[in-house]
Amino acid sequence: MSDTLLQVQNLNIVFTGPHENHHAVRNVSFTVGREKLAIVGESGSGKSQTCRALLKLTPKCAHLSAGMLRFGDIDLLHASERQMRAIRGNRISMILQDPKFSLNPLMRVGDQISEAFRLHNKTARRVAKARALAMLESVHIRNAEHVYRLYPHEVSGGMGQRVMIAMMLIPEPDLIIADEPTSALDVTVRQQILSILDEQLSRRNTGLLFITHDLNLVARFCDRVLVMYAGRIVEEIAANRLHLAQHPYTQALLASQPRLHHPVEMLQVPTRDPAWLDGPVYRHGVAL
Ligand SMILES: Nc1ncnc2c1ncn2[C@@H]1O[C@H](COP(=O)(O)OP(=O)(O)OP(=O)(O)O)[C@@H](O)[C@H]1O
Ligand SMILES: [Mg+2]
Repeated sequence: MSDTLLQVQNLNIVFTGPHENHHAVRNVSFTVGREKLAIVGESGSGKSQTCRALLKLTPKCAHLSAGMLRFGDIDLLHASERQMRAIRGNRISMILQDPKFSLNPLMRVGDQISEAFRLHNKTARRVAKARALAMLESVHIRNAEHVYRLYPHEVSGGMGQRVMIAMMLIPEPDLIIADEPTSALDVTVRQQILSILDEQLSRRNTGLLFITHDLNLVARFCDRVLVMYAGRIVEEIAANRLHLAQHPYTQALLASQPRLHHPVEMLQVPTRDPAWLDGPVYRHGVAL
């Protein structure tokens, strides 16, 4: 597979209601390579819906349309449900905010990792178990045999998220979509999880689409950033140039982030400008 994993052109998602329609994602275009690409933006700006569309998990009450939705040489837009099932969790994995909602409460965590492997690889249980144990070790779980036998309610938030990462990585996907994967964790555990994720991604050359509200984190962790406002991508910029962002919304978001070394009395709340709804967008500092 080439370095461009995913191509999205003019993606639109409209929720149809009895009285009015809600245009949740508007003409969104971007590509993802073997890199760490962030999508940031306030609540409701369309980040999760954009990512769910990539797995064709858009709710039934919404209408999805796009000029192109391509994963490698697969046309996702016209892919059958059967083809999508072969892609989901196998070639594109998704890590969600809270492992408690993604893990089956009635099944030992280790068996869930083994099953994730066996779903797409026809191997004996014993082989899958050995792979799952090795995977638990590679996400820095020391007593893998012990953790393998635990149920989801017996693991802490950070441990649960490592289990999720192990489960998502075991089929060796090309792309991982992580929707707020660390926002339920405290700061130190978050750092550990991110460095484990980073280590695993670079080892396998996996692409990452990382959704978050945390711009400070994005600047350190990601390569490139897409900023969404009211369903549109209003800015695209290299993560290490985020402080040079041109769009007033990105600038307002940056000003509203807490900074450890520059404490302020009160954080600013972005004041919205109606012009942002269809005004200019910025790609690498150039207004379009
Ligand atoms: N099932 C649904 N029915 C109607 N509208 C929906 C539904 N799911 C999402 N929406 C709308 O789509 C828009 C985009 O939602 P989305 O979940 O993508 O936001 P988000 O950027 O991920 O926000 P958050 O940061 O809160 O997770 C929102 O305005 C939301 O109200
Ligand atoms: Mg969301």
